[in-house]
Amino acid sequence: MESQNTAYYRYICERIRESAGDRKIVFYGSQASFEAVFKEYQDMKPAFNLTALKEKVSDKVRLIDDINNKSDEYYIVILLSPTDNLRKKMKRLGYRDFKDCMFVERKRVVLGPKDVSYEDGYGNKVVNNCGFEITIASYVFNSQVIIGKGTTCASGAKISVWKGNSKLTIGEGCKLLKGEFLLSLNTEISIGNDVVIMEDYSVTCSRDTKIIVGDHTMMSREIRLRSGDGHAIFDMVTGKRTNNYAPDDPKSVVEIGRHVWLGWGAVVLGGSKIGNCCIIGAYGVFKGTLPDHCVAAGNPAKIIKRDINWSKSNFTENIDDCEPYLNEEE
Ligand SMILES: CC(C)(COP(=O)(O)OP(=O)(O)OC[C@H]1O[C@@H](n2cnc3c(N)ncnc32)[C@H](O)[C@@H]1OP(=O)(O)O)[C@@H](O)C(=O)NCCC(=O)NCCS
Repeated sequence: MESQNTAYYRYICERIRESAGDRKIVFYGSQASFEAVFKEYQDMKPAFNLTALKEKVSDKVRLIDDINNKSDEYYIVILLSPTDNLRKKMKRLGYRDFKDCMFVERKRVVLGPKDVSYEDGYGNKVVNNCGFEITIASYVFNSQVIIGKGTTCASGAKISVWKGNSKLTIGEGCKLLKGEFLLSLNTEISIGNDVVIMEDYSVTCSRDTKIIVGDHTMMSREIRLRSGDGHAIFDMVTGKRTNNYAPDDPKSVVEIGRHVWLGWGAVVLGGSKIGNCCIIGAYGVFKGTLPDHCVAAGNPAKIIKRDINWSKSNFTENIDDCEPYLNEEE
């Protein structure tokens, strides 16, 4: 199983290979764990190393000033911490970020509610942050947050992209109050259109898992969606891990249908598939499969009623008010 750092370094190697083209790859600084992955990745080797110190110059180590204005010849991989001074220096020497040089270390970025969009050379992208505080942690790569038109969130709502290769999409016209979405390595959270989530939610996608929520679904306060355990469990007799599932294994997925109502404090765990028009009762802890039009309640939540539908309005006695859009083809 690949660790987050190895996955990140492999991604960086791929980007370096693409960007460098025919140019010689040169290292500035050192970082043993990256260099090990780089060596293993398509057997790549730096042509030489760079130093800022004259006394360190040798056969394989040249002075940084020797590469001045030679970006057509060299692609520089920087293994030192990405300070502003170093960025300025690389620019002065004629090396553009990503095109001619790559800082291997990527610092954490926190986007405020007013940063509408964001993109970086490590494959990370935010389209319409819609008021969320979005943290893209250090070493995050190839991750996207895409939020649809007309979606609103309350102040204090957060998205934490914690590890790489993850994607959060939120549809149009959703209303999301204060809470947090968290994504680990190789994950996907997909929230449909017109979804409401009340205060203090936590939607957490552990490594290699998925959470999918259908259109018109409504979640009350303090709901928890968790697609994985987040820690390793072992069988002491066999010594084998018991809670490690392939990404396409149904046990790695939380799938909630269309027009589902999760009652106050409901918890939905990995390996759950909840059909359309269902209800999970207040404080229900659900794990398993629930057919369409059922109510499940309790801990563990079990079916208590079948053949129901529900309306967002509490001022109706007419079953036809139960969201007719479910019969429409969308
Ligand atoms: C799940 C729920 C919708 C069921 O309502 P209902 O269909 O009227 O159910 P009933 O009151 O007939 O209860 C049926 C059985 O389920 C049990 N039950 C109902 N809700 C339960 C719950 N949340 N947890 C555990 N058991 C529950 C009842 O005790 C009853 O058990 P019994 O048959 O042994 O007596 C409702 O109880 C509930 O939890 N509502 C959520 C309210 C909420 O969170 N609102 C937030 C608004 S956004």
